[in-house]
Amino acid sequence: MNNHTSSLELSHFPVMLNEILEISSPLNGGNYIDCTFGGGGYSKEILKFPNTKVLALDRDKNVLAIAKKFEIKFPKRFKFYQLKFSQIDSISENYVDAVIFDLGLSSIQLDDLNRGFSFKSNKKLNMTMGINEISALDAINNLSEFDLKSIIKILGEEREASRIAKNIVKYRNDKKTSDLVQIIEKSKKKNFSSKINPCTKTFQAIRIFVNKEITELINGVIEASKKLKPGGKLLVVSFHSIEDRIIKYFFTNFSKNKYKPSRYLPENRISETALFDDYRNKVIRPSKREINQNTRSRSAKLRFAVRSKNNFKQPDELIKKFKRYLDLESINVKI
Ligand SMILES: C[S@@+](CC[C@H](N)C(=O)[O-])C[C@H]1O[C@@H](n2cnc3c(N)ncnc32)[C@H](O)[C@@H]1O
Repeated sequence: MNNHTSSLELSHFPVMLNEILEISSPLNGGNYIDCTFGGGGYSKEILKFPNTKVLALDRDKNVLAIAKKFEIKFPKRFKFYQLKFSQIDSISENYVDAVIFDLGLSSIQLDDLNRGFSFKSNKKLNMTMGINEISALDAINNLSEFDLKSIIKILGEEREASRIAKNIVKYRNDKKTSDLVQIIEKSKKKNFSSKINPCTKTFQAIRIFVNKEITELINGVIEASKKLKPGGKLLVVSFHSIEDRIIKYFFTNFSKNKYKPSRYLPENRISETALFDDYRNKVIRPSKREINQNTRSRSAKLRFAVRSKNNFKQPDELIKKFKRYLDLESINVKI
């Protein structure tokens, strides 16, 4: 066994694993899509139930070594695809029992200082998860001050975006991650009462932009809805407010109890076109015990919805509602 791989697997705790298993109920078998394989935490536990099959995706080629071991152990029940989850339609399997998303970065990616996701890194700015067009360095070095400000303000929800963007443009040029940390620290007012690192929001914004995470999420959950059988479950673990807002909006507005494509449609037509059965707007949070064991889980929110038996209909309103984010992520970076 490759020691490096096994220590990577050990260092990773799958977030809200018990809740994921309880909702997706692999006990009776079934077909699953794990859209964010990472360290393989969810896939591994689902495969412990004998009649299950897991198709797993991840955009990061660094997880291939872990996935390979799963493929050797379960040749008929596990298959890995190095794809972005917006490309889930390339998988031929349909009519699945559950599709699971555990968004954001894995601790494996965060802890690898060469990838420049962490404030502690002094390596070249990168922040790519895999299958990217640009790196963080490309974004920082080539975006206009106006675009940087919009990205930091809107995708990072950072109030001091103007000064940060101004200083990035002033001091940029082949930066290391630690240089960006200094620029942000210099730009922000000192806030001694804040528990969060002053760089958190700007790093989040740049990472989201470089990986087009909002575009991925919206297209990913739309495509996932096509793959589910009636009664199949769509489960999403999110880590920041923009992601949760998107999922909440999707599940609430495209479920039978809320769906209103047009106020002129009679009630029975509404339930004929909704993608999901009744949605109770329930957010599931990790237990105190889990948060104590794994601090990364503290901001996690799990939501799930159950696919209705209606044919798939493109949820145009979802795209329209979050167009502002989609437009930001499609800003062209001239390298
Ligand atoms: C939080 S980790 C998942 C951890 C996993 N649930 C486990 O238990 O080991 C998120 C993973 O999703 C992957 N990822 C993020 N965005 C993706 C996307 N758009 N398409 C495919 N994979 C993605 C990342 O590369 C990362 O490996």
